[in-house]
Amino acid sequence: MARLFIPGPTDVDQKILKAMQQPMIGHRSDAFADLFARTQPRLRETFQTKNRVFVTTSSGTGLFEGAMRNMVSKRILIGVCGAFGQRWVDVANSNEISAESVDSKWGEPNLPELIISKLKSKRYDTLALVHNETSTGIENPIAKIIAESRAIQPDIIIMVDAVSSAGGVDIRTDDWGIDILITSSHKCMALPPGLAFAAVSDRAMERAHSIKHRGHYFDFLLLNKHLQRNMTPATPAISFFYALDAQLKLMQEEGLSNRFNRHTQMAAYVQNWAKDRFDLFALEGYRSKTVTTIRNTKGISISDLNKSLSENGKQISNGYGDLKNETFRIAHMGEMDLEDIKSLLDHIDTYISHTNSS
Ligand SMILES: Cc1ncc(COP(=O)(O)O)c(C=O)c1O
Repeated sequence: MARLFIPGPTDVDQKILKAMQQPMIGHRSDAFADLFARTQPRLRETFQTKNRVFVTTSSGTGLFEGAMRNMVSKRILIGVCGAFGQRWVDVANSNEISAESVDSKWGEPNLPELIISKLKSKRYDTLALVHNETSTGIENPIAKIIAESRAIQPDIIIMVDAVSSAGGVDIRTDDWGIDILITSSHKCMALPPGLAFAAVSDRAMERAHSIKHRGHYFDFLLLNKHLQRNMTPATPAISFFYALDAQLKLMQEEGLSNRFNRHTQMAAYVQNWAKDRFDLFALEGYRSKTVTTIRNTKGISISDLNKSLSENGKQISNGYGDLKNETFRIAHMGEMDLEDIKSLLDHIDTYISHTNSS
């Protein structure tokens, strides 16, 4: 039964935690190379790509920085509609990379027409997007944005933050033409925090070759060189690779389309529940399949609600940043199912009826 209804870290299956207790092996050993090699085909399947998948010992933000440093030649355009789009901008600024953004109001998506008009106005060699904006509960229409962007600029590199959706939502990396798809271990992949993944296209590798200062820890050429031998440049979090191996097997047993459907069903259930009692923050037609942001129209205390939930071992998230208390978030990602969601929502209903009558 799920406890953490927060948008990461998610609950981790006991079998996975147990897998992490396996004895340590050397990271230059055949045993590690075998372990690494086993994960590659399954990672490619999960991210719907034939591309290489880098696995780094970091959270997703590390690979934001890696992608930014390895890809941007002169100027990047960034779609921003919440805190994580803004994080792309912050990463560019702190690396002195020339960046411009297309900003949408929080609760609304980045629409293709605004991105396209920017791309028509100036040459950008890279475009960064957020697939699932966790701060607002928006899913951006990235397939459309990518198709239209490529029609204008065929060689543009497109990097997608799929930190809170990959592994739970149908993202067609190759069909849509995503050059770099980034995610973290602790969201829909339902692993402990500690690893990050980037599916990287040949076109992106070509770009990396043309960039002089790519940094070191996330140098894509170095990562790729080691990947050929099923290794990593520096010491990886080996216990997390055990967990990854075990979790990818569980995910395969469930089946990718079942996994995607489970997330879609949970999202629909939470959205309907919230519409009946509160209001939804994200614009209709663009609502996330992994996290629902709810307007707190009843003015309930989210911290008191969480205190009550915690008596049952459960937890939800307050709104992000300035949206705190004005909104709250229920995540439906990872290994939880509809029964877990129903049990959470029953608890919240009971809490609301008690606070209303007291
Ligand atoms: C959409 C999105 N992007 C990026 C991040 C940052 O990922 P990490 O915390 O793994 O660095 C998060 C974390 O919540 C996220 O939700």
